[in-house]
Order: sequence, then C-alpha cells, then structure tokens
Amino acid sequence: MDRIQIRGGRRLSGEVRISGAKNAALPLMVASLLTDEPLTLASVPHLTDISQLAEILAGLGVEITMSGNGQAGSEVGRVLKLHAKKIASTEAPYDLVRKMRASFLVIGPLLARCHQAKVSLPGGCAIGTRPVDLHLKGLEAMGAEIELQDGYVIARAPGGLHGAHIQFPFVSVGATENLMMAAAIAKGTTVIENAASEPEVTDLGHCLQAMGAKIEGLETRTLKIEGVERLKGANHTVLPDRIETGTYAMAVAATGGEVELLGTRGDLIASVIPLLESAGVHIQSTNRGIKVARNGAHFTGVDVTTEPYPGFPTDLQAQLMALMVTANGVSHISETIFENRFMHVPELMRMGADITIDHQTATVRGVEKLRGAPVMATDLRASVSLIIAGLVAEGETVVNRVYHLDRGFERIEEKLSALGADIKRVKG
Ligand code: EPZ
Repeated sequence: MDRIQIRGGRRLSGEVRISGAKNAALPLMVASLLTDEPLTLASVPHLTDISQLAEILAGLGVEITMSGNGQAGSEVGRVLKLHAKKIASTEAPYDLVRKMRASFLVIGPLLARCHQAKVSLPGGCAIGTRPVDLHLKGLEAMGAEIELQDGYVIARAPGGLHGAHIQFPFVSVGATENLMMAAAIAKGTTVIENAASEPEVTDLGHCLQAMGAKIEGLETRTLKIEGVERLKGANHTVLPDRIETGTYAMAVAATGGEVELLGTRGDLIASVIPLLESAGVHIQSTNRGIKVARNGAHFTGVDVTTEPYPGFPTDLQAQLMALMVTANGVSHISETIFENRFMHVPELMRMGADITIDHQTATVRGVEKLRGAPVMATDLRASVSLIIAGLVAEGETVVNRVYHLDRGFERIEEKLSALGADIKRVKG
C-alpha cells in the first residue's frame, strides 16, 4: 500500500492550479442518465472516486470517453463525454456502491427515466452512519414504491414519477441532488424546501438548466422544478473545488509562505476567508484566482462550527484543526454535520497536538511544535489534515493508507512538492 512521506518545516511558495470539484463532478456525471444525448463535462478531476463512478455508470449502459489533458497546470483538466443513449441495466450492485456513497445518486435519475431501479444501500462509513432515508422519502412522495430487500433498495414507479412538495427536516446535499435530478423529468412541479444550497448543488442545477430543465431558486433553500418531457445533451465545465482551495489555503497558513491558487474563486470559501484572516493570514483575490500569504507573524486560534453552506464546511474541519494545533491560544471546533468526524484527532495527538473532545466539540490548545510520526489516514479529509500537520512537524511523518487521499485530492504530492514541500509517495 502506498504511503506519503513528508519532512516538515518548509514554507510553501509559488502557484498551484485548483482542480475541478470532485463533489460537483460526481452528481454531474450521474445527470448523464437523464438524457439519451451526450453530456460533456470539462475540468473533471483525475481521482479514484471519479473512475469508480464511471465504472458504475458504464454498467448501466453509459458510454464514456475521456479526452483532454489531465496534466498538472492544465486549465481544462479531463473532459468526459457521457452518453446514455440506452439504459442497459437499472441495477447498481453492492460491490461498486459500497465503495462510494455518491453512487446512490443514480436511483433518482434511473427511476425518473426507466421507472425502476435496484440500487444497493450504501451502508455507513467511517465518518458516520449516513442513512439515505431523505432520498427514499422524497422519491416516495414523487410516486415511487420502495422495498428494501437483501441490502438493496428496489424502487418502482409504474406510471412514472410525479411532482411533489418535499420539506427536508435538515439539509442534505445528496438528497437535494438526487431529487432535483429526478424532478427534472418527472410529471408536474416539485418544490424542495430546506434544500441544500452548496455550490456543487448549484453547479448541478446550472448543468441541468443547460440540458433544458426548468429550475428556479438555485443558491437558495427553496427549489422549484417544473418537470419537462425530455432533457437534451449539454457541455458543462465543473466548478473549482472549494475544499481543495480551502485545504491549500490552510496548508500555506500552517507553513507560512505565499501561494497563488489558480483557477479558483474567493466566494467559494467565503466562510473560511474571515476565519483565516482573523487568525493572521492574508488573502487577496487576483485575476487568476486567490493569493494566500502568511509572512512572519504567528497565527492565533479561532473557534468554528461546521454548518451547511454558506456556513463553514465539514469537509474542511479536519484541515482547520491541523492548522489550529500549532496556533497561539485555544480554539474550539464543533462538528454538527457528521457524528464521527474527529478520527484525525488521535493521529494529530500522536504528533504532539493537545486536543480534548467533549461530545461534538474539540478543544485545541496550540502547541509550539509538532513532531513527525507514522500516522494512519481514516477518511479523505482526515488524511489531508495529517499531510498539513506533517508539513509543519519537525522530522519525518509517514501517512499510511493513502488510497483515501487518492479518492479526492488530485496529485497532491506533486502539487505540494512544486510549492517547495519535501513530500514524496512511497510505493508499496
Ligand atoms: C456530501 O455528502 C458530500 N459528498 C460530503 O463530502 C460532505 O461532507 C457532505 O455532503 C456535507 O457537506 C458528496 O457530495 C459526494 P448529506 P452527502 O446528505 O450528500 C444525514 C467528502 O469528504 N443524512 O448532506 O452524503 C447524513 O448522515 C464527503 O468529500 C440523513 O440522515 O451528505 C449527515 O449526517 C464526505 N439521511 C447529514 O445528513 C439522508 O437521507 C448531511 O449529509 C441523507 C443524509
């Protein structure tokens, strides 16, 4: 199993290109199921989650071709052309779905287009139990009959899906995306209240609109979708990855230095910028992206609570904690989205961090130095937090179970070494 080896203590400087957003690209790929015409997506990041979803979609009959330059520095990234001319199968098997929860998103589009679907329940994962009840209740409200059998959801809508009024009890990104896609070609109008307004949801909405969908209320908490008879193909560019943007910003904040993040936008991390600024980091928009700098002054601890967008994202909580472990003073970090998303804490403590957890809040008391250590990645964002910690730690850090990282961070060791970090992948 590959490992990442880091010798900490180097400042980061230079420029790095931010990739297309994984969490936008995944639902956008699924949207190809809604039309018999080709959907072309540019700026698709090269990640294992993307290849795994491509495998699932191919099993459903989607023809997928890849072109474009996926090399470092490329603005276009990979271009995927997905053509679901005919749906060959409406079944997404356990072996594939269990590897990646986002694949559960195929259920809405399959039901809407083919009036049936059999999709494995994704099961829990390291960060929490992560049920799919909101997806299923929404589809039932739209006329689906749902049965659970041997770990599978078997869904049928003999007369097709119809519009419905759906009120989520809490915000769910995936359920909003699933139902928005299904509603785009259901009969009648669907209203989703307390919908997610994450930029990735909006990006999907824009792509569906380009395909001919009638959607109002994007970027707000109420979506109104008037079903149309058919959607057509479209060309769409995936939005920049706000989590990768925030991760590199926090890495620079942690090591010190000055880095321009190319091809991204400050508004995507609007909740993060004031926090980093109050901690002593300078952030400035440029005509190519944003510049992040910390020169000289040490940064101070800040308090943060994760929330649905536009609040501070749960997907940046671990990275912020890695930054706070060497801040001046105390910071309190509360996780409200997932019940088990502090698995990086014991690993950071092995490197010398001083952290205590009380229910959903971690209290981080800044220490002067971290020391390198062998650590274990437990999920995608936790693993990148260990990389940030390794960049500032004295001596060598080895991050094991790097496959988590490959799910969501494109060429991270290449990007960081181009910025001056001493980091390499050790094959094994
Ligand atoms: C998306 O997951 C992201 N994944 C996650 O990123 C992200 O952390 C999360 O949204 C929150 O922003 C993708 O976009 C592919 P939710 P999703 O439905 O859609 C509970 C990463 O590291 N819930 O908004 O699965 C759920 O358990 C990943 O890239 C139900 O109870 O998240 C969680 O506690 C990790 N029932 C909360 O809602 C449901 O039917 C929010 O989950 C659905 C969700």
